[in-house]
Amino acid sequence: MSALVLPTVEMLAPYEAGKPIEELARELGVTDAVKLASNENPLGPSPRALEAARRELASMHFYPDAAAYRLRERLAAVHGVAMEEIVQGNGSNELLDLIVHTFATPGSHIVFGEPAFVVYKLAALAYGVPFTAVPLRDQRHDLEAMAAAVTPKTRVLFVANPNNPTGTHVGRAAVERLLREVPPEVIIVMDEAYIEYTDAPDFPDSMRLRHLRERLLVLRTFSKIYGLAGLRVGYAVGPAQLIDYMNRTRAPFNVGAIAQAAALAALDDTEHVERSRSENIRERDRLTRELTALGLSVAPSQANFVFVDVGRPARPVYDALLRKGVIVRPFGNLPTSLRVTVGTERDNDRFLESLAAALR
Ligand SMILES: Cc1ncc(COP(=O)(O)O)c(C=O)c1O
Repeated sequence: MSALVLPTVEMLAPYEAGKPIEELARELGVTDAVKLASNENPLGPSPRALEAARRELASMHFYPDAAAYRLRERLAAVHGVAMEEIVQGNGSNELLDLIVHTFATPGSHIVFGEPAFVVYKLAALAYGVPFTAVPLRDQRHDLEAMAAAVTPKTRVLFVANPNNPTGTHVGRAAVERLLREVPPEVIIVMDEAYIEYTDAPDFPDSMRLRHLRERLLVLRTFSKIYGLAGLRVGYAVGPAQLIDYMNRTRAPFNVGAIAQAAALAALDDTEHVERSRSENIRERDRLTRELTALGLSVAPSQANFVFVDVGRPARPVYDALLRKGVIVRPFGNLPTSLRVTVGTERDNDRFLESLAAALR
């Protein structure tokens, strides 16, 4: 009998998401667990987004706008691009998958960093696309090595900036060089899910570098600073030709009506975004300082999480934190590190105290 699925799909395991916080809390017998595991906004959604979502609820018997017209129109104005240069996604996750699905085949090749956002590899495996996972250097994407990994078969190269799980970034000069030097047929994807949290003076906004390269897709999301992770909205900006191909392969109603309405309203709440940003930067710096003071090594983060090397097997530390009701993110392939979302000041205090106790 012929194989039911691609051999690479046979190798895949379903994505292991964390347990719902209520379930964990029940299991652990704690009533006030804090989840610092998925890089969500600890301040919650904007009240304006919440109100817009509520208003939309009564129309849930209608399909959403398949073209996300109003949202794309607004995003086009925000970024100074044409509507035809934007495609909406069910989270930017769907767009990452769609990019591989649309532009790569088992006969081509893709490049990404390691460790980087895991979806690049998952998509490659799902569609049977050969890939090169280029190790980070000093915990940052090694863009020179990534450019060198490009072959005549390479169709897509992914860069998460800032990167997940390390939170580190690559600077403007290196990104500009990459955009200029990689052969023009390759689509470079700048995945900027956390860009609103960055404050490094050399951090490049790829939306402003589009003149350097035709085949550039810039990915953004409403899941992080906009606080809408549960609604699933992201978007890609790129040349109309690439966006047109992605529109052919995506599901017609990929972003729900409530999600579209909330995203549109969230864009208007600049005060909520600004507060989310400043509190994150303040607490990110404090977490970094205090973890360093515990003698731990912390990667310089530009995101809403920190990546800390606990200098011993991380799993027992993770388990000890869990028992104290603090949920962080371990990685099987990075056995001494934990990724910790920057929470509210209170959440972070609780994490720091629990960690110090776990390490004693
Ligand atoms: C680098 C990066 N890109 C994309 C995503 C996907 O986010 P979403 O699908 O919620 O937009 C994430 C989520 O954690 C991420 O870390």
